[in-house]
Amino acid sequence: MPDRKRMTLPGLFAKVAEGTPITWLTCYDYPTAFLQDAAGIDMILVGDSLGMTMLGFDSTLPVTMDDMIRHAAAVRRGAPNAWVVGDMPYMSYQPSVETAIRNAGRFMAEAGCDAVKLEGGAEMADRVAGIARAGIPVIGHLGLTPQSVSALGGFRLQGKSAAQARKIVFDAAALQSAGAFCILLELVPDRVCRLITERATDCIIMSLGSGPDAHGQLLIYHDAFALYPKFKPRMARVFADAGAVIRDGLAAYVSAVTERTFPQPENWFGMADEAYAELEQSLRDAPVEAAMGAVR
Ligand code: KIV
Repeated sequence: MPDRKRMTLPGLFAKVAEGTPITWLTCYDYPTAFLQDAAGIDMILVGDSLGMTMLGFDSTLPVTMDDMIRHAAAVRRGAPNAWVVGDMPYMSYQPSVETAIRNAGRFMAEAGCDAVKLEGGAEMADRVAGIARAGIPVIGHLGLTPQSVSALGGFRLQGKSAAQARKIVFDAAALQSAGAFCILLELVPDRVCRLITERATDCIIMSLGSGPDAHGQLLIYHDAFALYPKFKPRMARVFADAGAVIRDGLAAYVSAVTERTFPQPENWFGMADEAYAELEQSLRDAPVEAAMGAVR
């Protein structure tokens, strides 16, 4: 695997300046982080989607700050070079600016993250400004924002009408002037994403299901590698069917154990003849059954 340099904020803006799309994936655990880092993924999002992909909830709402810190720290250990973003879970920033700054600080101090992400537009601008003033790089998230899925009417395209699209353009401008260095647009029409990208100044625009014209692309890892059992969203492409590979491997394991073809001598460890003979002799001389009374 090739050596890579640690990604930095200037490094991300350099990619934008040279017109090279930024690669971004979600990740929640150490071994996957190791693979993503080695593959040269620029940014990693430790998303609160882990509530669904890793913990089996039906939404992201039950995820806590402690869950996020645990997973983000594991990802950081596996990915020392990628730009790791901690996703602020439900109610970790909504109550107040101070709550938002404290919890953003936990991602940096306890998990070693490089940045945080939170959902919402102009109504969250004061949280974004507070976090940015505390010296923490912050990413906004507009369009389909899963923490508000019930208010948005489900996991569906946002900003289809001119009025809804105008609100997203307005929110993007509000987040930029509040100090967001990056905005994720999830499931908004491609032309709205292009418009916001063209208007962005000193702000990186990323797309999740919002077309090709942003500065880079994000995908949920479990969608891209067929690891989420419940559904595959249309916006995702399956780049490799890891789910099928694992299913085949599990079937092979079950048959190998059942048919006694596993384990083989290379999978176990032996004992020297003299040591084994000594063990047998000691069991004859002092049967363990006799000693059992002492441990009862
Ligand atoms: O939690 C997450 O993975 C996210 C994506 C849906 C963008 O916020």
